[in-house]
Amino acid sequence: MLVIQNGWLVTPQGAAFGDMAVDCGRIAALGARLSPAPQDDVLDASGLWVFPGFIDAHTHFDMGNDLAHTADDFETGTRAALMGGTTCVVDFATQERGGTLSDALAQWHRKAQGRCSCHYAFHMAITDWNERTRAELADLLAAGVSTFKLYMAYDALRVNDGELYDVLVSTARLGGLVGVHCENGDLVNAGVRRERQSDAGVQGHPRSRPAAVEAEAVERLLRIAQVADCPVKVVHLSTREGLEAVRRARGRGQCVRVETCPQYLLLSDERYRRPDGANYVCSPPLRPASDREALVKALLEGEIDTIATDHCSYTSAQKAAAGRDFSRIPNGLPGVEHRAVAMMSAFVATGRMDAAAMCRLLSENPAREMGMYPCKGALRVGSDADVVLWDPNAAGVLTAQGQWQNTDYTPYEGLRVSGGVRHVLLGGRWAVRDGRLIAPNLGSYVARRQPQL
Ligand code: URP
Ligand code: ZN
Ligand code: ZN
Repeated sequence: MLVIQNGWLVTPQGAAFGDMAVDCGRIAALGARLSPAPQDDVLDASGLWVFPGFIDAHTHFDMGNDLAHTADDFETGTRAALMGGTTCVVDFATQERGGTLSDALAQWHRKAQGRCSCHYAFHMAITDWNERTRAELADLLAAGVSTFKLYMAYDALRVNDGELYDVLVSTARLGGLVGVHCENGDLVNAGVRRERQSDAGVQGHPRSRPAAVEAEAVERLLRIAQVADCPVKVVHLSTREGLEAVRRARGRGQCVRVETCPQYLLLSDERYRRPDGANYVCSPPLRPASDREALVKALLEGEIDTIATDHCSYTSAQKAAAGRDFSRIPNGLPGVEHRAVAMMSAFVATGRMDAAAMCRLLSENPAREMGMYPCKGALRVGSDADVVLWDPNAAGVLTAQGQWQNTDYTPYEGLRVSGGVRHVLLGGRWAVRDGRLIAPNLGSYVARRQPQL
């Protein structure tokens, strides 16, 4: 048994000073003062915040497309995640057109198995909707995949409105949840054609997909979900206008879950004017400061349910290979390692949010939404002992040189941060101790139940 003493135990209800006992991979006891037996290990957590391990429900590791293959695979990506306090990621297995969901799931298991330093689970991205795909859904839920993803953009991946409706209905019947990439694919294609003619370089990227392209897709998705009478999740929301569409749908009584990402809360589209602008190409793109401010306000007012990273990393050489053709730059940013420290620094250390609210955004809400609660995302007796001991007094600067992510840059280069990971327990075992990785590869697959919305 391990007894963690004198920590601030953080839950969405608040922080309570106390002790926690861990035994056989689970939380065995919680209390104001626990009495360790002589044979127990004891950790003095004075001055530390004890969180249920953070969950990142949006990563892309070991993913290829016609432009490039991601720099992080499951080995490097989950290691970076763990070092940043993330004890579970939910990555996207993606159906090949003409292929089955079960083949895609088997392929993603092969990518991840035996390589993960934090726990992992999979969403299934459906790209080829037909009767065979529909017939597979129940098997997916039985295999622990209870969340799905649809794309409204990217020609190789997207579904049409009728298919979107049908997937929403079919998955909701089984208790699943669909997250949707909301950009109007036809408008993106038209914007790309237009901007390529003007030879705008990297700045053509945000111009090719302005806020209205996201907002139209969010509005349309939510109207489709209204007709289908199904809950739905908007992933990586980046605009004020998209947020307003969410508010309207919620006002009609719809269940809409909203995820945003650190890049949309901290960065803005001026990055595309820098010489290394290609490194910031992601979809949806970084937005003007007014969108960022609207999202921050919504976050602080409790309108956003989860913060995930959409980690999809490439090296700057991979980004630069496109030259002036912005449409050939692989889309995505690294971030899985820096989510908690960046968010804590921006919002908790500055007093704009308390640690309890951050715990809800990074741990409890994703665990509930992903069908893992209360095994994960909770400091409760019986919950898995995936635990982060956070030092609120640590200080540092984020740099590419000091990171674990397998790329040569970070969008947060030079960011001064307050707080940091001191220790991480994964299933009750020491994975990170005093900021050092001591046990890689402890992660295992998490078969999930139905989302709790
Ligand atoms: O640019 C991004 N976000 N790439 C990853 C794939 C996606 O759209 O989520
Ligand atoms: Zn997306
Ligand atoms: Zn994504």
